[in-house]
Amino acid sequence: MITGKFPNLRLRRNRKETWSRRLIQENTLSPNDFILPIFLIEGSNKKESISSMPGVFRYSINRLPQIIDKALRLGIPMVALFPKTKNSLKNELGSEALNENNLVCRAIKEIKKKYKNKIGIMCDVALDPYTSHGHDGLIKSNQIVNDETIEILINQSLLQADMGCDVIAPSDMMDGRIGKIRKALDKSNFKNVQLLSYAAKYASSFYGPFRDAVGSKSKLKGDKKTYQMDFRNSDEAIREIALDIREGADMVMVKPGMPYLDIIKLIKNKFKIPVFAYQVSGEYSLIQTAINKKIVNQDVIYESLMSFKRAGANGIVSYYADRIDKILK
Ligand code: PBG
Repeated sequence: MITGKFPNLRLRRNRKETWSRRLIQENTLSPNDFILPIFLIEGSNKKESISSMPGVFRYSINRLPQIIDKALRLGIPMVALFPKTKNSLKNELGSEALNENNLVCRAIKEIKKKYKNKIGIMCDVALDPYTSHGHDGLIKSNQIVNDETIEILINQSLLQADMGCDVIAPSDMMDGRIGKIRKALDKSNFKNVQLLSYAAKYASSFYGPFRDAVGSKSKLKGDKKTYQMDFRNSDEAIREIALDIREGADMVMVKPGMPYLDIIKLIKNKFKIPVFAYQVSGEYSLIQTAINKKIVNQDVIYESLMSFKRAGANGIVSYYADRIDKILK
């Protein structure tokens, strides 16, 4: 592959001027590459800061236009909605997930009413924002039960689709849920609702600030290791992705992001399907805290985002998406 050698060969030649570096760059980022997560909160006129995620806020439904107008102006194609459910509405079964007047459902309706199809809406399918124990599924005799959980996830998916959600994103890691949800969507005439599977989702400590943001952190009993993946494994990620593709996923996600670039690359090379990376809350907060403390400068944001492109991701879920104009400049 390498022909010639030093001193004939000098790789620095191509790097010597800005125009030349621009010419030979292999990867680029644009606003089209981003999904913006938005945290929702009950109430009116609220834009609430989140102590564990400096620069990220929770919005009440009537304040959503502020952030969605901005996303539109920036050219972000899709937002992802995450509710902070009131504690009084949480229970063992997560039944609030199936309430058509829950926070997410009302937000979807409002956004669709105001913005039509100018911006995509993605919603998580999982029970953790709604359960009193903070787990993504139902608990029976101390186990997170798979098949019973799927029955609820199917109804959660149908409800979100009915409200107008464009992209259903199961993030629960139950076995077999993609196929079951696809089948149920098709049967109910939601043939064109897309499925983005959080297919390779690892049991990670990088989710800490998110759990704080949606109010499940203090609730969570134990860990999620019996359903989310072991971070020692990568062959297993290929199996998870292969199964979800066979079951009908239109797109797949790897999560967390930066510590899992090898997984993104592996999957992109093996499966020709849109792959998304989730730069999760812990990654965001580590970077942003270091910037705020002037330990690193803010160019690390762009560098971190570009790593996902280099690994082969088609797009990135990032809490920086609402500031992408300044980051790409
Ligand atoms: C819930 C869910 C989590 C995240 C997205 N959806 C947390 C978890 O699985 O415990 C994490 C996102 C982030 O950390 O930014 N199923």
